[in-house]
Amino acid sequence: MCGIVGYIGPRKAYPILIEGLKRQEYRGYDSAGVALIENGEIVIQKSAGKIAALEDSLEGHDFEANSGIAHTRWATHGEPNDINAHPHTGMTGKIAVVHNGIIENYRALREVLKRQGRIFRTETDTEIIAHLIEEYYEGNLLQAVRRALTQVEGTYGIAVICIDDPDSMVAARSGSPLVIGCGEGENFVASDVAAIIRHTNRVVYLEDGELAEVSASRFSITTLDDVIVTPHLQEISWSLDMIEKGGYDHFMLKEIFEQPETLKNAMRGRLNFEEATARLNGLNLQFDELHHIRRIIITACGTSWHAALIGEYLIEEFARIPVEVEYASEFRYRSPIIDADTLVLIISQSGETADTLAAMREAKRKGATCLGICNVVGSTIARESDGGVYIHAGPEIGVASTKAFTSQMMVLSLITILLARMRSMSYEKGEELIKALNGVPEQVKKVLSLNDEIRRLAEKYRDKNNFLYLGRGINFPVALEGALKLKEISYIHAEGYPAAEMKHGPIALIDENMPAVVLAPKDSVYSKIISNMQEIKARKGIIIAIATEGDKEIAELADEVIYIPQVNDFILPIVGIIPLQLLAYHMAVLRRCDVDQPRNLAKSVTVE
Ligand code: F6R
Repeated sequence: MCGIVGYIGPRKAYPILIEGLKRQEYRGYDSAGVALIENGEIVIQKSAGKIAALEDSLEGHDFEANSGIAHTRWATHGEPNDINAHPHTGMTGKIAVVHNGIIENYRALREVLKRQGRIFRTETDTEIIAHLIEEYYEGNLLQAVRRALTQVEGTYGIAVICIDDPDSMVAARSGSPLVIGCGEGENFVASDVAAIIRHTNRVVYLEDGELAEVSASRFSITTLDDVIVTPHLQEISWSLDMIEKGGYDHFMLKEIFEQPETLKNAMRGRLNFEEATARLNGLNLQFDELHHIRRIIITACGTSWHAALIGEYLIEEFARIPVEVEYASEFRYRSPIIDADTLVLIISQSGETADTLAAMREAKRKGATCLGICNVVGSTIARESDGGVYIHAGPEIGVASTKAFTSQMMVLSLITILLARMRSMSYEKGEELIKALNGVPEQVKKVLSLNDEIRRLAEKYRDKNNFLYLGRGINFPVALEGALKLKEISYIHAEGYPAAEMKHGPIALIDENMPAVVLAPKDSVYSKIISNMQEIKARKGIIIAIATEGDKEIAELADEVIYIPQVNDFILPIVGIIPLQLLAYHMAVLRRCDVDQPRNLAKSVTVE
């Protein structure tokens, strides 16, 4: 979603800001803009569309400015055009603001300000912040921002500059991430570390309700109530090449191929072979607390929600603890039943998804212990949860989640073993599952070697406009995820279904033009899925089967077969999703879609 970057220091700000915006392109946006303090004036340029359009509009300009702010906007209030793009100013043009988030009471505030004679030029909620700051500005930008923010309700991450105070900028956060990057004689503000990692890996995350006053040589943090905060400096461990394509055509493909490595990272140091269990140090729960869990709720959105469903199958089957999976967006507005023995798992790659964060806060309000399963270190969910497990997938730039999904499944598998071994699971079974997990990277590598074969398959079916994805048991959420991957990046309509449910409705769709991707490995429900495939064949549907190596029978029934290795059922979802990721990727490329930044989507959904 929207991205912010700000710079103040001795260097020319413009190229740093543009590069910072580009590093955040993956988050999804539809317009971009920049504000610079140049020769005692604020120069603002904004463009609908890509950052390249903004650059084109400024071609030939060589800005000297040493400070500025820039923004990529993902439209919420008002269409994505030049006027609604950020930065926004008030009436005098002395103050410029960029904003991520949503100001919920903007209509009421705008009416009040209009009555005071203020003229609004945009349809955005953000413009209100610029007017308020201008209204309160009496020579001290920090104080004006503070006063303005006491008026607004909603979420914000903002960066503000002012002509009268060219040597500093102000940033503030409530519900939308913001980080200060600390350089040598220069400082940065950004909504995403990716924007500034080229320049510094030393950062301070702002907490909700905090404001930062940032100059080239120093910064200070205070709360909305003007209480001084001691900054907690952190070092980011990842490097620039982790957010570059490394020779691949797209980030998504790179991330798919990284999975043998990212899966190793997710389990590194966490497999306890001696005791046939998992070792998870960040849970912050004592043995007896873990032992007393009687019920688990897992909440998440999108792909992370699919991982949650897989977690449900695993935990219930192996640890015998009842699990409920809830869409975070629904959970937050229900009145969920949470008692002392309920554990809530929160799954979020970004750790910033607004609905998931709100669901966690709601669960905590009700007294639940919340464990986060996050990728982004230092993200809000990771920080606010009671404990948790990082998936260590490294930065995921492609909007379609791939490596984070498999690592989420890996971590859920580890949690399953840990909980199961404290209960009824035998040493032998624990050992078998730990060994299976240890073998996952090799198995994933084998499936990745099918890339060319899967591309050929995509060539054959690239013109189909509807797909069904079917699976049974633990393969059902894999089917859901396969369908989501295809639809989000190739814009082909795809539906995931439990295979047996097909005959209760979707079977009506089946004809000679409808491919059904069927997950049919040799597992405990193999014979059942074969019956479902016959139902499809009887109606002349096309079957693309994902089957176990050596399965000859399936080749007689399916039009196409992608063979995956024979693996323990426990790790089947991790191995089974790989061909579906590759299929979606190649279909999207062949249909000339923007794989890494699909239309309308954002990487980190920080609005409701
Ligand atoms: C799909 C995808 C989204 C995210 C969802 C939750 O490929 O990436 O469905 O899974 O927006 O995001 P996180 O996991 O960051 O909370």
